[in-house]
Amino acid sequence: MHKNTIFISVTAMVVLLLAGCRAGGDFTGREYMPDMAHSVAYESYSPSRPVMVDGQLVNLFADGKSAREPVKGTIPRGYMPYHYEDTPEGYEAAGAELVNPYNKVHAEVIEKGKALYNINCAICHGEKGDAKGYIVTNGKFPAPPPSYFEDRILVLSEGKMFHSVQHGKNLMGSYAGQLNKDERWKVISYIKQLQAAHILANDSLAVQSKASVEDILAAITGQNKFYTKGMSFPKVSVSMGTTEAAEDLPVTFVESAIDKIVAEAKDLKAGEVVQLSNVFYSTGKFNLRPESDMELGKLVTLLNSKPALKIEIDGHTDNQGDAAQNLALSTERAKAVYDYLVSKGIDKNRLAFKGFGSTKPAARNTTEEGRAKNRRTEFRVL
Ligand code: HEC
Repeated sequence: MHKNTIFISVTAMVVLLLAGCRAGGDFTGREYMPDMAHSVAYESYSPSRPVMVDGQLVNLFADGKSAREPVKGTIPRGYMPYHYEDTPEGYEAAGAELVNPYNKVHAEVIEKGKALYNINCAICHGEKGDAKGYIVTNGKFPAPPPSYFEDRILVLSEGKMFHSVQHGKNLMGSYAGQLNKDERWKVISYIKQLQAAHILANDSLAVQSKASVEDILAAITGQNKFYTKGMSFPKVSVSMGTTEAAEDLPVTFVESAIDKIVAEAKDLKAGEVVQLSNVFYSTGKFNLRPESDMELGKLVTLLNSKPALKIEIDGHTDNQGDAAQNLALSTERAKAVYDYLVSKGIDKNRLAFKGFGSTKPAARNTTEEGRAKNRRTEFRVL
């Protein structure tokens, strides 16, 4: 072949090829062998562009849209309707009734929850859950969310959390569109895990009680399923129950007066009265509930550290019911503590016990709150 012919044909091919490169915007460039690589992209339900059919421009559908609306009442596969309305009553009902299906900790659930949380929530709530998300710290978001470690949020039930993520809450929008039901529960599991880890790292009593993350999770998710080794939180009073005594109400731990005595290296003077606030009995009975172990363990340690200390355990009741029975009950309860201390090796000569029934109230018996204060166990320094 003539050299010139080769040159001309090669140049023509290159020019043709390059001419196809004028792509940009909506224009795909010239294609010499078009196939289906470049179908026209439509937003869902957007108007369609008319297409040429037999030399005539026609719409895909008569109404000019690019897709059909689903039949009324259609739901996505796997979708479950949410029945709790976006009202205060709906919020309370969701809190009381909804149960996280992931109530046991699975590493994969937490991992998935963490990833979804970091994508959707961390921008406000912070990766650690401390409400120091990016748009909060840079001042772009007007209302900082609560830290997950605030008392109210620590004990916020998972059902209420789910409800708030479903419907949104005040300045927080709904995430029902971004996260399906399963994903929402996983995110909530992760938040509860963050809270449990926070308590375990920051709460001295949780540390002392040697609680595990699982114990704390059971407490703050309100599962109330098992005995939690006398765990408590100084600020949040978390209620916990036991399987051993299922008929008993959950107990509420408060800060222990013994901790204070030890922390302040306080001298105990004769006549001084110290509350044993974390000693619990079954209603109407005198046997100690297992949750009392932690407080009584502290009392044993205190007695061992002060060999000269002698005490009298005093039992008190409220004024409900028969006075004589109350006196007997308070005496039995004081004796239960006395027996416990003896069983732990404290010398009987250093101990006494006495029941007072309702004769020495600490508060008025007219309200339940007052009566709860009156049902108490104390020790008096002899
Ligand atoms: C744009 C910022 C923002 C994002 C993103 C955000 N939140 Fe919130 N969140 C808030 C604010 C603000 C509140 C406080 C609402 C109130 O009580 O007024 C809040 C409150 C909450 C509460 C407490 C609700 C209650 O019932 O009191 C939970 C739980 C929560 N958010 C979870 C999430 C989860 C899970 C995500 C991610 C899926 C998320 N949030 C994403 C801003 C945000």
